Amino acid sequence: MNERRIDPADGVVLRATQVAKTYAEGGLRTEVLTDATFSLQRRQSLAIVGASGSGKSTLLHILGGLDTLSAGKVEVDGRELSSLSDAERGRVRNRSLGFIYQFHHLLPEFTALENVCMPLLIRGTRIGAAREQATALLERVGLGARLGHKPSELSGGERQRCAVARALVTRPACVLGDEPTGNLDEANSAQVYALMLELQQEIGTSFVIVTHDKHLAARMDRTLVLHNGVLREVPAAT
Ligand SMILES: Nc1ncnc2c1ncn2[C@@H]1O[C@H](COP(=O)(O)OP(=O)(O)OP(=O)(O)O)[C@@H](O)[C@H]1O
Ligand SMILES: [Mg+2]
Repeated sequence: MNERRIDPADGVVLRATQVAKTYAEGGLRTEVLTDATFSLQRRQSLAIVGASGSGKSTLLHILGGLDTLSAGKVEVDGRELSSLSDAERGRVRNRSLGFIYQFHHLLPEFTALENVCMPLLIRGTRIGAAREQATALLERVGLGARLGHKPSELSGGERQRCAVARALVTRPACVLGDEPTGNLDEANSAQVYALMLELQQEIGTSFVIVTHDKHLAARMDRTLVLHNGVLREVPAAT
């Protein structure tokens, strides 16, 4: 039941083709994206940078099937999101994607262990196996002694590490992160990133990370800049 639909020809896990997005509200049209085109290979990490308001979060929401596009297409693990029913899109999200947000988005009423178990339970993993896998990953991110703590009983860095564990526990093809360390200090931020990159290697996940942090962007395999609605690749430094 853990099959992936990776395109065997090129190992592409995520592909955006001429994605455009215009918000039209109350007679006001805001053209945010005009041409976002890229493809991401398995295990590759990608930084998306750009000025505030350039449309980075909008693009990430579209890539994750959380928002609709006005034109173009997005394929996740070989499935075009807009061709799927809501239920199928939900399944692709659960099976192929992980999400990390700037503010952890952990469920406040649940413990760290329960939060990390959640994506596994949603996909039908039995509770015993879910607890085992979630515990192993929480230990891996240094939270083995915090399993029973609720988010309000964790530090900021611990919450983000818990969110990293939650995003990766399903071993997704791709993790989408919107400023995943944006509210952490430098030391905590470096620790969370180091951890994400280690797990990326171990699990073979691809990463798309929106960040303002130049040091972090430099550690990704590729960087794309969003400007005036168009996404362009920054040539790798030689
Ligand atoms: N629901 C909406 N309706 C209308 N306009 C919107 C909506 N959501 C976002 N926008 C506009 O789209 C543009 C891009 O917003 P977005 O949040 O994607 O930017 P961003 O690059 O993530 O910025 P930041 O770096 O500040 O997070 C902004 O000008 C914003 O005002
Ligand atoms: Mg944003």
